[in-house]
Amino acid sequence: MSDLIFLDSAGSSIPPAPVVDEVIGHLKRETEIGGYRAAAERRDDLEAGYGVLADLFGCQPSEVAFTDSATRSWLAAFDAVPLEPGDRILVTEVEYGGNAIPVLRRAAEAGAVVEVIPSDIHGQVDLGALHLDNRVKLISLVHVPTNGGLVNPVNDVTAAAREVGALVLLDACQSTGQLDLRGLDYDMLACTGRKWLRGPRGTGALVVRDAVRERLHPRLVDLHSGVWTGLQEYRLRDDARVFELWECSIADRLGMIAAARYALDKGLDVIEAEVADRARRLSEGLRSIPGITVRDLGERRSGIVTFTSDRVPATELKDRLWQENVAVTVSQKGSTLIDMTRRGLDEVVRASPHYFVTPEEIDQALERISRSAR
Ligand SMILES: Cc1ncc(COP(=O)(O)O)c(C=O)c1O
Repeated sequence: MSDLIFLDSAGSSIPPAPVVDEVIGHLKRETEIGGYRAAAERRDDLEAGYGVLADLFGCQPSEVAFTDSATRSWLAAFDAVPLEPGDRILVTEVEYGGNAIPVLRRAAEAGAVVEVIPSDIHGQVDLGALHLDNRVKLISLVHVPTNGGLVNPVNDVTAAAREVGALVLLDACQSTGQLDLRGLDYDMLACTGRKWLRGPRGTGALVVRDAVRERLHPRLVDLHSGVWTGLQEYRLRDDARVFELWECSIADRLGMIAAARYALDKGLDVIEAEVADRARRLSEGLRSIPGITVRDLGERRSGIVTFTSDRVPATELKDRLWQENVAVTVSQKGSTLIDMTRRGLDEVVRASPHYFVTPEEIDQALERISRSAR
């Protein structure tokens, strides 16, 4: 598909050659000497991976855990937050469905309440509407929502949370790999490898700040997370790897590390600027196509561009675009129920160009979108 225009890095991006080589190379090595020896050969590289991710997030290697998805990371952190009857959990209007369901379930079991922080006029979390007290145990903050281009402010939310001792769990699934996250303040961060970071599917990471780890009670632990010290005793690890389980795909983990290194080599600031440039070009172009409405909110915008057509339903438009070799996807109401309900939307077409999409390709995509939306 030589004329493919790939606008789906918010779905599952295209890994660069060093990532693919790493994954396939390791799988081949496993066929030669078996999984355990192949892993042993790469022990130093796997260990160095914690440092690479620490560089990506601007944290300590001891604060990094590898997982197999953003959801797995998010759940590991969320389930570890102690909850008691009457505790408050705050979510934003752009909360992701995969987070909302476990929040509702656990809150019901614990007798905690779930509250939605309203958005401001720009669609971002309304800092003036944060009514915090010491019953707030957790703020679940989505950095970049799955269904639109806004970027939520993080440090202001965390500063407010600190005043009442609440934890901030940042869903950075859609921001890792497209934005520079190194200056952000949060307690826990969940991300995936396969989206903007251009890693393999089935990879993710969790950052747990050293300062809060003791307040958390990891639920899923095994003989990697801890040591069995006696018949009635065990001791858990004293770093973020307490959130990892022993078994994992070594090939995919090496691929994730290669992806993070690739992003760092390119430069996080360069990536952020180039993604913003492509998204701006796409968004501006879409605004000039009759019948197309751009749906993104937010004062600060990310690489996600969403739109609807007043003639063609989003899913059909996506299908037509696939026929035209433009890879986009559709974000459905159920993924961000609160926000979509508030805005009266059932589905939006989501385009998410990475830096490897050229400005000329954006212009060609606009032509094909214009044709398909007629
Ligand atoms: C904002 C957000 N959070 C979480 C997830 C879940 O990520 P994963 O499928 O890697 O678990 C997604 C996936 O699209 C997402 O967009």
